[in-house]
Amino acid sequence: MFKATVFTIFPELFPGFLGYSLTGKALEDGLWSIEAINIRDYATDKHGSVDDTPCGGGAGMVMRADILGSAISANYSKGKIIAMSPKGKPLTQDMVRQYAKEEQLYIVCGRFEGIDERVLEAYDIEEVSIGDYVLTGGEQAAQVLLDAVIRLLPNVLGNEESTVDESFENNLLEYPQYTRPTEWQGRVVPEVLLSGHHKKIADWRLEQSIKTTQDRRPDLWKKYLDSKKV
Ligand code: ADE
Repeated sequence: MFKATVFTIFPELFPGFLGYSLTGKALEDGLWSIEAINIRDYATDKHGSVDDTPCGGGAGMVMRADILGSAISANYSKGKIIAMSPKGKPLTQDMVRQYAKEEQLYIVCGRFEGIDERVLEAYDIEEVSIGDYVLTGGEQAAQVLLDAVIRLLPNVLGNEESTVDESFENNLLEYPQYTRPTEWQGRVVPEVLLSGHHKKIADWRLEQSIKTTQDRRPDLWKKYLDSKKV
């Protein structure tokens, strides 16, 4: 069973969003579990300080290597440790698929200006970003990452929610979807989707996926073309 261990100064934020909907049901059903470790429990002063000013000066505070190191040492057994950070490697569906194969994933939620680099080195921690923007902390980012991982775990998605056709599965964005009513405010559902002709529907969907991907994600479109070459 997949287990996530999260290091945070806000353990009360977990499971948070992950306690709802599909991921919440899967948590209830015992398909995955989560433990939130309060980094402050490893502080050495009576204020529970976990941060200090940056060496070399500059804005903000830095998470101390000794405190975070103690928290990790006391709770780590084996497996991958990642840290959520805007300077991390951008998260992709390929990375999500790899994480979903792990039995145990450790996630450090950064706060302040960053984490002392020495603790990242010492524990071979991979920094991961959920996008090119800056959040106030890593907790929301960790929940985004875990949501993407949990839905890929065995038995979490039902047949009706298969991942086969969704965005990123073939380096293409998903085609547009429609449901009833077939006419709404003078707008009609594309005729081909009502034709019952499976081949024509598949061709139309592929064409739409290609158009959307070319328009919105030239980087992904290039990946798609490259994947077709081999
Ligand atoms: N912490 C702050 N910003 C972040 C981001 N974009 N991704 C991951 N963690 C973060």
